[in-house]
Amino acid sequence: MLTILWTLLSLVLPGLGLHLPVSCPRAKECQLALLSNNDVLLECSISNAHWFFFGLDTGDKPISLSIISNTKQNPDGSLLIKNPSPFNTGLYKCRDKNGNQVTGYKIDFQDIKRLHVTHIDLGQKPLANETLHLGHREILYTRWEPWQKCNSCKSQGERKRLGYCYVKEPLEEPIPCGFYLGETKTYYDRVKPEMQVEKCQEKCQGPLTGGDYVIFDNFRLTESDSTQLTCPFASIYRPVRWEANSIPLTWREQLSGQDLSSFMDLYSGGRQLQIFQPAVYRCFVQQELIAQFNPIASVDLLGAESQSKRPGQRQFGKADPVLRGLQLVLLMVSVLVVGGLLCKVVFRPIQGKKNQVLLVK
Ligand SMILES: *[C@@H]1O[C@H](CO)[C@@H](O)[C@H](O)[C@H]1NC(C)=O
Repeated sequence: MLTILWTLLSLVLPGLGLHLPVSCPRAKECQLALLSNNDVLLECSISNAHWFFFGLDTGDKPISLSIISNTKQNPDGSLLIKNPSPFNTGLYKCRDKNGNQVTGYKIDFQDIKRLHVTHIDLGQKPLANETLHLGHREILYTRWEPWQKCNSCKSQGERKRLGYCYVKEPLEEPIPCGFYLGETKTYYDRVKPEMQVEKCQEKCQGPLTGGDYVIFDNFRLTESDSTQLTCPFASIYRPVRWEANSIPLTWREQLSGQDLSSFMDLYSGGRQLQIFQPAVYRCFVQQELIAQFNPIASVDLLGAESQSKRPGQRQFGKADPVLRGLQLVLLMVSVLVVGGLLCKVVFRPIQGKKNQVLLVK
């Protein structure tokens, strides 16, 4: 069911691919660092692509990718690496049917479990450079990616940037830590990827493409319970924002140890949200509203929301079982709307964009 939904969503929201695409010029081999736990898509736009993997320890012998269970080759030639682990570190080569190399990716999947997270507005400091003392005046340091976009353009938001561990010798090109230190087998505490967060304010540029989002009407919480919500399209490589009853959930609050009524999962950049209280949760990716999660019998809570808009308030009444009948009506409406959406996907309108809502029961 979810797969169908995701596919539908990617039709409705063509601007966002499901996974981070990585591309490297033809006839080149690119070296890069990425994070474990977050899906990536390696591009190789030829038909009949053949992928091979050369691990750190396997020397010159390629491993067929069919035996690496978390990779999947797509019909367009690209290779999806699902939920990569540091063991996926190595060289991925794409060859054509004659065995000629089309492109190659040397990727160091740095261990997300070692992620060092700092928030500038909390005065937290990123890691300092460290000298390695291996005889070549090597410096272990963090190479920062550019800041991602602000996660909101309507009000104050937060933005993040990722940093990867690299080693640099004087006059040499920097090398991702996994490749430089792969053979030494020595443990260095400084070998960590980093994430830095700060507050931001950004003007909305042009109209958001939005209007299309999913409503999930089916999460249920009892008082001692918690549940996990997953924001489609979200990833650590993209700006993600969550709101509970229209109040933003921030990394600042979470990293300063306050507010324990919800937790954004650090290792997925907030793709998952652990919640302990019923509320209407919404998630935004690249500033676009992507999904809304209503607790069971949410009509009750929506009423509560419009009555109490005091900031900081996240406590709401319990769901009313009497609303079952209403839910049934909602279900029927959902079915109709999904049908309508299918029609929309098949017969896309020629002009104009109206607000569309896909209800999922
Ligand atoms: C850390 O090392 C890198 C690479 O040599 C260098 O570019 C950077 O300026 C250094 N940072 C500090 C604070 O010394």
